[in-house]
Amino acid sequence: MITEFTIDAPGRANALGPETTARLDRALADAVAQGSAAFVLRAAGGTFCSGFDLGDLPRLGDADLLARFVTIERLLERIRTAPLLTIACVGGPAVGAGADLVAACDYRLGTGAASFAFPGPRFGLLLGTAHLTRLVGGQPARDLLVRRQRVDVEEALRIGLLSHRVDELGPFAAELAAAAAALDPITLRELLAVTRGRATADPLSTLVASAADPGLADRVRAYRGESQMQQLINGVAAAVAEGGGEQAVTGRVAKVLRAALAKGLSLPPGVMVPHPERYVMYPLHVAPDGSFSIASAVWNVGQRTPIHDHGVWGVVGIHSGVEHEVRYAPPAPAGAPRMIDESLWRPGEVTVCCTTDQDLHQVASGSDEPCVGIHVYGGDIGTIQRRSYHPETGEVGYFTSAWTTPAS
Ligand SMILES: [Fe+2]
Repeated sequence: MITEFTIDAPGRANALGPETTARLDRALADAVAQGSAAFVLRAAGGTFCSGFDLGDLPRLGDADLLARFVTIERLLERIRTAPLLTIACVGGPAVGAGADLVAACDYRLGTGAASFAFPGPRFGLLLGTAHLTRLVGGQPARDLLVRRQRVDVEEALRIGLLSHRVDELGPFAAELAAAAAALDPITLRELLAVTRGRATADPLSTLVASAADPGLADRVRAYRGESQMQQLINGVAAAVAEGGGEQAVTGRVAKVLRAALAKGLSLPPGVMVPHPERYVMYPLHVAPDGSFSIASAVWNVGQRTPIHDHGVWGVVGIHSGVEHEVRYAPPAPAGAPRMIDESLWRPGEVTVCCTTDQDLHQVASGSDEPCVGIHVYGGDIGTIQRRSYHPETGEVGYFTSAWTTPAS
């Protein structure tokens, strides 16, 4: 299989803006995933690529520019190391990052209209320099970066920046791609690894490469959320294992939960999604021995539980929104449950909501936004059958708040 990609940024001389860069990166990743033998890189129009798209430069700060440059360098490295034959077809000027794109490929075909320029050093940027040096040698690379404003096809061919000069790009590229596709895939991969040579990575470039993958902030947030959740699980497990009466256990669990919320416990977005029709309980953790479980309980605006009891102890802390709780007296033999009091619980507040005796309450969202609560119970709440009470007759029914699978 052969993959072709055409750089096509009309009106921008095929400059590499964030969108074009992302499309190229994705196309390469897809080609690798699909087992393509060759990746042919072309360009629409007369210019191969005019380099970075700096059309929005007035709005960009140092950090934005750095992120863009690093993203491009990362893309170049992916092209240089992709386990398929890469072929650049150059039929016009290739400037800056555009010239680096060509240099990153295994075969670099150019027509008489091809030319190259590396203006980066003039604004203090060294991009793709180590690779260019490996490709053409130290002196020619220095010459390209320091002295030459522009090199034509003959000079590019002489120093090895181009591998072949052709009159027509298409047929030779097709011939190369077909030759790669005819090889055993493992042989091709090994052949490319050996003939390309290996770059040695220095610590700073390793750091930059790892940090430059898109979504760094999301990754850090996810890690922070996971480690905070693990701390909460460990804390609750210790509080439960210490034993003692129900009051002692819930007191310790409440302390742990209060501390976690005070530190800004973050939850995966998938466990904060309200259900359109009913309140839901997402499992955050169920102890393997069933001694406790931690749930993310979500009420959308207007949603409420029935009046119910629990059969296990429970501690509730509010993550976001407001939880409206109405407590009822233990049930009389017949008649409507009698309300005792009601409370509004706000973010960061923690309450011992449930006890093993017949504690009745009803819970609803208490504001105009969904309420997300962290509920810790003394058992696997997703499997415990509980009693509900009819608000007018007190008639008893049975229900289980089955776990809801988190949205991905
Ligand atoms: Fe409850």
